[in-house]
Amino acid sequence: MTKIICIVGARPNFMKIAPIMEAFNAHPEIEPILVHTGQHYDEKMSDLFFRELGIPRPDINLGVGSGSHAVQTAEIMKAFEPICLEQKPDYVLVVGDVNSTIACGLVAVKLGIKLIHVEAGLRSGDRTMPEEINRILTDSISDLLFCTEKHGVDNLLKEGTNSEKIHLVGNVMIDTLLKNKNKAEQSPILEKMQLIPKQYATMTLHRPSNVDDQVIFGGLLDAIEEIQNDMPIIFPIHPRTKNNISVLGFEKRVAQMSKLRLVEPIGYLDFLKLNANAYVVLTDSGGLQEETTILQVPCITLRENTERPITCEIGSNQLVGTNPMNILAAYRKIKNSQLPPSAIPELWDGLAAERITKILVSSTV
Ligand code: UD1
Repeated sequence: MTKIICIVGARPNFMKIAPIMEAFNAHPEIEPILVHTGQHYDEKMSDLFFRELGIPRPDINLGVGSGSHAVQTAEIMKAFEPICLEQKPDYVLVVGDVNSTIACGLVAVKLGIKLIHVEAGLRSGDRTMPEEINRILTDSISDLLFCTEKHGVDNLLKEGTNSEKIHLVGNVMIDTLLKNKNKAEQSPILEKMQLIPKQYATMTLHRPSNVDDQVIFGGLLDAIEEIQNDMPIIFPIHPRTKNNISVLGFEKRVAQMSKLRLVEPIGYLDFLKLNANAYVVLTDSGGLQEETTILQVPCITLRENTERPITCEIGSNQLVGTNPMNILAAYRKIKNSQLPPSAIPELWDGLAAERITKILVSSTV
């Protein structure tokens, strides 16, 4: 029996862990234990996703909550160490690139527990991004590295990682999307919001580099203002962004944009339905760049770099940065031309968690 502690902490982790827990639970050789660090804790940022995605209730919740990077990381480490000592797992499995990922990874390796990283090898090349530091550090201490795309494999090899540790398995987040696509179609969100398919945009914005800086956020609002003059933008707002709109004095400006519709964070199924039927998606999120590639919806990424280059190479993603001129040019390009259907990256077929499980069951690492 192989005992594996699986870690979740923040919203983007939940859709990644769901298929892994399902696959592990179906294999009698694996005993999974689910630990939630509590990095995200609001009903709409956490619990809702467990219910919708059928993720088992966490066996343990560390209840750590928000804080500066150092405080949050340290609190997670302090709370997770005794769990590892008590449970004595064979492996700790972490996903993605959030603070919970590196905090729990570090605890595991310091106790001599083998570490598995799912979504390994992604690199934006931007070390000012907290997630980039989390990615580099987590990969460098992991014993098994599961990659979503070939660039992940290439990056790890370039960094000198032993090739035997690396496995290209596909994308667990896409496992979740494909599993839930039909269910999401049943969501009544379009009727509820009185939206017509392909006649609105969706937008997410939460990166500190975009929403903590008055000049950058202001420039983004310039572009958003123009786009919402052309079509409604549905904007489920992250707590950080909501707070910054008031701290940076943008409340009045945002309120004056009559077709920019700010809503509370939205659950997985409703948001999947909204994105699948959107004309265009504007985002600074990592996951949405991948989801829109599968949904065949044009995506404008409001960042200077991406750790998910495959979405630009074969998908419908345009990486435009934060200059309002460039954002509007990308928007016009979509309006003026029918983009050809994008290809689907290798192994993004709904079976990534199953591949991970098979490798683990036969692993000698
Ligand atoms: C974290 C991840 C980021 C991911 C994002 C998705 C890190 C370094 N960043 O950023 O990679 O894309 O999650 O959301 O781990 N808050 C609430 N309720 C919650 C959670 C947070 O109100 O349930 C507020 C708090 O004011 C908190 C702030 O949001 O201080 C930021 O939360 P935090 O977990 O520190 O980082 P995110 O910006 O969410």
